[in-house]
Amino acid sequence: MKNKTNERGFRLAVAGKGGVGKTTLVALLAELLTHSGYRVLAADEDPQMNLALSLGVPLEEAEKIVPLSRNKAYIEEKTGAKPGSGWGGLLRLNPDVSDVVQRFGLQLKPNLSLLAMGSVDQAATGCLCPENNLLKAVMRFIVLKPGEIILVDTQAGPEHFGRGVLKGFSLLLVVTEPTSTALHVAQKSMTLARQLAIPHLKLVVNKVRGEEDQNRVKAFIERSGIERPASYFLPYTADLLALEPTVGSILTQEGKFTEAIQELFCDIKMLISEKSASTCSSVDKIF
Ligand SMILES: Nc1ncnc2c1ncn2[C@@H]1O[C@H](COP(=O)(O)OP(=O)(O)OP(=O)(O)O)[C@@H](O)[C@H]1O
Ligand SMILES: [Mg+2]
Repeated sequence: MKNKTNERGFRLAVAGKGGVGKTTLVALLAELLTHSGYRVLAADEDPQMNLALSLGVPLEEAEKIVPLSRNKAYIEEKTGAKPGSGWGGLLRLNPDVSDVVQRFGLQLKPNLSLLAMGSVDQAATGCLCPENNLLKAVMRFIVLKPGEIILVDTQAGPEHFGRGVLKGFSLLLVVTEPTSTALHVAQKSMTLARQLAIPHLKLVVNKVRGEEDQNRVKAFIERSGIERPASYFLPYTADLLALEPTVGSILTQEGKFTEAIQELFCDIKMLISEKSASTCSSVDKIF
């Protein structure tokens, strides 16, 4: 599998049911990746755009951000069609989006930028409308340089898979809580990710309150018959709630949550650099 970040960057997305902790995880991974020397483009598909707040953008600035999905002038400039014009017409299928980060990216740190993507209406699943076409082009064709990573906070639920935005991604983290509804969404997301041929999937079980929760998840995986994914258990911690919305500093606190995140991050880093997991050790821990 050739996806070396040394050669052409790395595409990573986080998916799952509403409220399970996707944005929290994306914000923490952005922090860890940038500290490890990668350049990160964090892309937010969430219509509420909470990622900006989680990455430390002040509320009054975050409220001014217009996501790409609502940037009518740019969509028309790039696709040749007016947003809302629906199917067909003179839609440019592979719009050149090479200027998108420079024009609309918000540089938060020297090696961290945020791109507010927004999303198209769920009813428009699979549509060839200009908005969807543009978002797809940004995700798929944005050229990453060596050491660059695109990290996507996806819209809640599995519907966005139908729009094909994550095609060509190398790694999908499916976040779930240890509840049956969240696990069903995770199961669906994993099935759809396999159909998109995303080569690496990891299941991140968040807000785990004890062994009973872990056992419930393991039993669900056994019953579901899904190919057993690499699984990680992140404990429930009230410390996160106290830090909201800017959660990054949890990484400086010792505790089971930070330990579990570090373990997950170690494995992600090994995947990005194509080293074997056995080379991941405490020296890779950066906080
Ligand atoms: N391990 C945890 N322990 C306790 N609370 C957590 C944990 N992880 C996340 N949370 C809390 O759960 C809530 C939802 O988290 P978050 O916004 O990251 O979820 P989300 O999946 O992005 O939600 P949405 O689908 O609405 O975008 C937040 O209040 C967050 O602080
Ligand atoms: Mg979110």
